[in-house]
Amino acid sequence: MQRIAIYPGSFDPVTNGHIDIAKRGSKLFDHIIVAILHNPGKQSLFTLQERLEMLEESMSGINSIEFDTFDGLLVDYARKRNATALLRGMRAVSDFEYEFQLALMNRKLNRKIETVFLMTGLRWIFTSSSIIKEAARFGGDVSDMVPAGVNRRIQAKYGF
Ligand code: PNS
Repeated sequence: MQRIAIYPGSFDPVTNGHIDIAKRGSKLFDHIIVAILHNPGKQSLFTLQERLEMLEESMSGINSIEFDTFDGLLVDYARKRNATALLRGMRAVSDFEYEFQLALMNRKLNRKIETVFLMTGLRWIFTSSSIIKEAARFGGDVSDMVPAGVNRRIQAKYGF
């Protein structure tokens, strides 16, 4: 049986930290599905389609990986896709409480699905989509935190 993991997130936009987690995760699982949450209630910089394109552009070289969107409960989506694991990256202690809550709730909802955490690469410890957007909005250089294509798209969004 194939070991399938879902790597879920907002990916608004994908960062080098996400790519690092996906690459390392792909060595642990037979197949990874990177799944963007479709959440119309949350304001995002990039449309779902743009986020999908950026994932494809930056991660398609990774072995046995695919890209998708989902709505509703993550564990329901995982079950539909025959996945047995949820892959999440963990950065600093500040991530811990939220990730712990998420993992425990997901486990309560479906005990057959495990959350697997990978510690972020040291280089990416302070890299997050939101801090990147915050800096880029005011003209800050984030080119070493995202792939070149993503950097271009961010600059275009903010009119630089
Ligand atoms: O990149 P993010 O924004 O930290 O990702 C959060 C995400 C998408 C993993 C989380 O919000 C999620 O799984 N949402 C779907 C609804 C759900 O199942 N929530 C957890 C149980 S309440």
